[in-house]
Amino acid sequence: MLDNTLQLLTKGYAWLPDLTRRNGPGPVRTRLLGKPVVALRGPAAVGFFYDEDHVRRRTALPEPVLSTLFGKGAVHTLDGDEHRQRKALFVTVLKDTDGVAGLARHVEQEWERSAKEWAGRSQVTLFDEVSLLITRAVCAWAGVPLPEHPEDEARRTAQDLVAMVDGFATEGPRHWKARRARQRQEGRLARLVEDLRATGGEASDGDGQPPSVVAAVAFHRDADGELLDPRTAAVEVLNILRPTVAVTWYTVFGAHALHRNPALRERLAGQDEGHARAFAHEVRRFYPFAPFVAGLAPADIEWHGEPIPEGTMVLLDLYGQNHDPELWNSPYVFDPDRFDGREPGRDELVPQGGGEVSQGHRCPGEDVTLAVLSTLLPHLARLDYDVPQQDLRITLHRMPTRPRSGFVITGVR
Ligand code: HEM
Repeated sequence: MLDNTLQLLTKGYAWLPDLTRRNGPGPVRTRLLGKPVVALRGPAAVGFFYDEDHVRRRTALPEPVLSTLFGKGAVHTLDGDEHRQRKALFVTVLKDTDGVAGLARHVEQEWERSAKEWAGRSQVTLFDEVSLLITRAVCAWAGVPLPEHPEDEARRTAQDLVAMVDGFATEGPRHWKARRARQRQEGRLARLVEDLRATGGEASDGDGQPPSVVAAVAFHRDADGELLDPRTAAVEVLNILRPTVAVTWYTVFGAHALHRNPALRERLAGQDEGHARAFAHEVRRFYPFAPFVAGLAPADIEWHGEPIPEGTMVLLDLYGQNHDPELWNSPYVFDPDRFDGREPGRDELVPQGGGEVSQGHRCPGEDVTLAVLSTLLPHLARLDYDVPQQDLRITLHRMPTRPRSGFVITGVR
């Protein structure tokens, strides 16, 4: 069995789907970083993967990914009771409907302010500007001060949050930029957590409002009854800020979808919230973002009669499943109607993982992602702009990928 690390780095998103096509039905077996690997996909495989008797996370993530994307000691790396207790923090903060609606309102205000400002500019790179507006919105919502002056503070934070995502799967300068960004933001947020604790900021702002997101993290107690050390608390605050800003990728993919399918614009621009949500689901299904998730088999196990020896790395092929012709009609056609009037099954659409949020590692931020996207995409559809000649290719070998130009628009009216 050949080691496929190089193929993964060069083929990116196409690596596992290609292997699966060549392999035929059944799990794909290969090697990564010298370790044996089994890759699975499909709703039944999702159930298998998210059972802790089959897959554990603690040592599955390589250091370069922790030092950029997730942070050391992050919820992503915990198992068992430790994981459930830490995860409850995220579920409480992110499943609160009022909280999510509050974030959507911040996002909407920031969009309106930004769109006015774009009208005075000769051109706007949507990726940069959307990441800035979501950064402002999520920091205001979460209780992270972001001084207006100098404005650079907001831009710098947006760039850092983007860099942490952009640099996790490469060895080059993007990776070192991501490490520096994480160092800077962890340091800043750890000081914020210490200040909040020192001033007893737990109790809220005194008018009966729930504590801010940062306060919820600062005063959270882990399974051992202890507060998180300030650095780990900073890591977890970043695990809310960073992925919310990562919705920028989906927003820009939404702009790409509208550009390629202009007939879809009018309906999205209307007031049909159900359709905006269907469109958001289709953006998450169609465009490449998280390629797969990984863990290690804690014992000798079996999948449909196939032995998986202890220590094997088990991958769940998220991108492959979202384009599996067994699950989706014409998977390479962008068609929001496939979600009109229906929510996807729990383990069917898996851009943010599968299984139960509270029990396993499924992303607790799907409500936030859908709320931010279904707020921004109709606004984008209503915006009057031109798309000049540019390189809009989305290469599958770059991880994470995006339209190369960042999606430049001109003539915003
Ligand atoms: C851009 C959209 C997003 C994508 C593509 C995405 C994707 C993912 C994926 C693939 C996982 C791993 C699932 C697993 O390990 O099985 C995950 C976990 C996680 N996500 Fe998201 N996510 C997004 C947005 C968000 C948002 C908005 C938040 C919070 C506000 C968030 C917070 C988290 C956290 C805390 C975890 C770790 C969960 C755990 O280990 O139990 N994500 N996400």
